[in-house]
Amino acid sequence: MHPMTTVAYFDTKPYDRAYFERAPGADRITAQFHDCRLTHETAALAAGSAAVCVFVNDRLDRACLEILQRSGVRLVALRCAGFNNVDLAAAKDLGLAITRVPAYSPHAVAEHAVALLLTLNRKIHRAHNRVREHNFSLSGLVGFDLHGKTIGIIGTGKIGRIAAQIFRGFDAQVIACDPFPSLDWARDRGVTYVDIDTALATSDIISLHLPLAPDTHHLLNERTLARMKPGVFIVNTSRGKLIDTTALIQQLKSGHLGGVALDVYEEEEGIFFEDHSGGVLQDDELNLLLSFPNVLVTSHQAFLTHEALSEIARVTAENMSRVEHGDFLAGTRLA
Ligand code: NAI
Repeated sequence: MHPMTTVAYFDTKPYDRAYFERAPGADRITAQFHDCRLTHETAALAAGSAAVCVFVNDRLDRACLEILQRSGVRLVALRCAGFNNVDLAAAKDLGLAITRVPAYSPHAVAEHAVALLLTLNRKIHRAHNRVREHNFSLSGLVGFDLHGKTIGIIGTGKIGRIAAQIFRGFDAQVIACDPFPSLDWARDRGVTYVDIDTALATSDIISLHLPLAPDTHHLLNERTLARMKPGVFIVNTSRGKLIDTTALIQQLKSGHLGGVALDVYEEEEGIFFEDHSGGVLQDDELNLLLSFPNVLVTSHQAFLTHEALSEIARVTAENMSRVEHGDFLAGTRLA
């Protein structure tokens, strides 16, 4: 970027700002940090900026991208791995460069998936609340050993492979599916590839590590959830829309599912990352999910480690500087 280029950062919180202000090259950027998400309604705030820096719940549809382009923005720097929230065809038409951070800390996300499963299974969240009230009873806190269980990893990319390796450490049987299997890795790690139907039908635990795309939208739906083993635990740290929430709730109510741990939620946009504790949550399905004793929800925090935030800030700054040197100006590229 040119000296003192202005960058508009959207949907930022104090922890984001701290890392971006310390990133290499930050001294050459005039940062405008906005709390609000970027949508076509807030895009005008980027006027005068050469770049916008956005996160998972900013919505960069064609209307939004057109406003950005008209106001002089030439780069959209995603500070996340997923890019399902950007209309890539529109960005290409408008000549906007797009960058992302393909891997910041796959360990952060994989470790959070395991933390969610252990917490939910061993009911640590409930035990913590009990003992704080001096209730030392164990009734209702029975879990199960992960040792010997079958864990289905759906998507063995950067995060899924690390999750699989951690689960192998519990001496669990790990099965996996992916249209592009990593066969050498699987052989070395004692992981077996199966088709999706087998994974769904035979896993005691299913952990989702695949991207959201038109063909993976509602991968877990009424039909596929019904095919799962009774008592199955589901962990989703990928994207909310991989699961049909209405069907999930039905299967929770029927008792078919043993437990559901979610770091992402289908309608999280506008809810997650914000403090709604002073008001009434208007999302009925989320309210219902939060009422189940065997559901655990975190607010899209799987990425939230020191290592990941440092890497996100470093790679985003590097992406911006590569655009300065013309690497991306030919059109939309995802780096
Ligand atoms: P990756 O691109 O390295 O791996 C994704 C894998 O999923 C690939 O191997 C791909 O072939 C596979 N896949 C695609 N379609 C599939 C299908 N239908 N069935 C089975 N596998 C399929 O991505 P990475 O880095 O492992 O991230 C996975 C997802 O995690 C991201 O797409 C993102 O949505 C989510 N994520 C969530 C974060 C959080 O804070 N909760 C943070 C970072 C990523």
